[in-house]
Amino acid sequence: MGEQVVLISSSIVRPVNKPGSDRTKIHLTPFDLNLLHIGSPQRGLLFPKPNPDFHVISRLKASLSLALEIYFPFAGRLVKVENLEDNTVSFLIDCDGSGARFHHAEAKTISVSDLLQPDGSVPDFMKQLFPADDFKNCDGVTKPLLVLQVTEMKDGIFIGYCYNHLVADGVSMWGFINTWSKICSSGSSSFVHKPIVLKRWFLEGIHYPIHIPVSEAERPRPSRELPITKDRVFHFTKKNISDLKAKANSEVGSSDITISSLQAVTAHMWRSIIRHSGLSGGETQYKVVVDVRQRVNPPLEEDCFGNMIYIQQAIATVEELLNRGLGWAALQISKLVSSQTNENCKKFAEDWVRNVKNLKTGVGSRTVGDFVLVGGSPRFEVYNNDFGWGKPVAVRAGPGNNISGKLVLFPGIDEGSIDVQTSLWSDVLVNLLGDVEFLEHVSIMV
Ligand SMILES: *[C@@H]1O[C@H](CO)[C@@H](O)[C@H](O)[C@H]1NC(C)=O
Ligand SMILES: *[C@@H]1O[C@H](CO)[C@@H](O)[C@H](O)[C@H]1NC(C)=O
Repeated sequence: MGEQVVLISSSIVRPVNKPGSDRTKIHLTPFDLNLLHIGSPQRGLLFPKPNPDFHVISRLKASLSLALEIYFPFAGRLVKVENLEDNTVSFLIDCDGSGARFHHAEAKTISVSDLLQPDGSVPDFMKQLFPADDFKNCDGVTKPLLVLQVTEMKDGIFIGYCYNHLVADGVSMWGFINTWSKICSSGSSSFVHKPIVLKRWFLEGIHYPIHIPVSEAERPRPSRELPITKDRVFHFTKKNISDLKAKANSEVGSSDITISSLQAVTAHMWRSIIRHSGLSGGETQYKVVVDVRQRVNPPLEEDCFGNMIYIQQAIATVEELLNRGLGWAALQISKLVSSQTNENCKKFAEDWVRNVKNLKTGVGSRTVGDFVLVGGSPRFEVYNNDFGWGKPVAVRAGPGNNISGKLVLFPGIDEGSIDVQTSLWSDVLVNLLGDVEFLEHVSIMV
């Protein structure tokens, strides 16, 4: 783990009651299976240090055990079934109560201020505060679906976690964190009155379990040396956002279309990053994670548990993107978002099943740098997750899926602000940090 962060113990935390033989098994949808070879997301919350009487580690473990009783899919395992008759494999989540892994670590020399750099830079030791090195979702066949690391720092605590994307998406994960924190602070799970709603959306016309050619299901070999990416957190104040939004809307100049804050901010990031990507022409893509819950017909419950996302893209030529202004870029994003209808979601799933291929290419080329990939959301409730000794002071994404152009969105700590954790190749980042037009709209101290 390196010198600054020392692993004290590692254990398995199981749900309070072991499930019986009638336990739930969850079939996976095209939305899940499409993420098979993608790195499992890692997120972490930074807290002030609790009073020693709080017994933070034992309380976190005890409450986790109660939380896993409710959110039982996280305590299950991914199972790969070989279909010998057609040389394919299928996957399912067996909610067998095997449990989540819990690391307890210490970093006596690292303080909160080491992590919260005023310029938004992310120190190298940050990755040691996260529990997993290079987990891909397909690794769930041998590894727990949820791995946590609680690190006691000099004057704070960091709770880092890695979750298998086949089990949950951001909406479901934050729902879990919120429930866990409430159980931990109150000491009981009696306030939870209803079980989680599992998605029962098995798409008409799709036969489950889905069969995947053996070759597509194998874990891809680690690729050749890839250029190193660096992370930076860009903070957009409420004022920065409203200025960008006003600029984008005035450029669009249409009374029928309103560019949202999020579209304006991410359009600004897209243009600024591509401007420094060294591309001489060709196309660029804006890829965004789309939540299907409210798009399908009939809609799913807003808090229904599982993974209900897919990735869609807007395409532009580099020339258009750079020459036609913020409003034009935001308009392409707005059109992309409004085209995500019930038909589009269903078509994605049906096409996927009909032609399972290229799973291993993941979300795109790691060597070209011609896209941004926008995930996370400023709507996730982050700062109200109080485990009993105070609210989080920051949130970060961990390593994994290091692709130049990856943007993870979080709410900023001040109401109405947005943080964008951005992964970029070092040279792109250096140029971006020297770009006055970019910096005018963000608030970092360079
Ligand atoms: C991946 O990203 C992390 C920061 O999130 C960084 O510390 C690490 O060096 C990166 N690895 C590569 C190979 O780019
Ligand atoms: C963005 O926010 C920073 C910090 O508040 C401020 O200095 C800068 O002027 C803002 N830019 C715009 C265009 O609002």
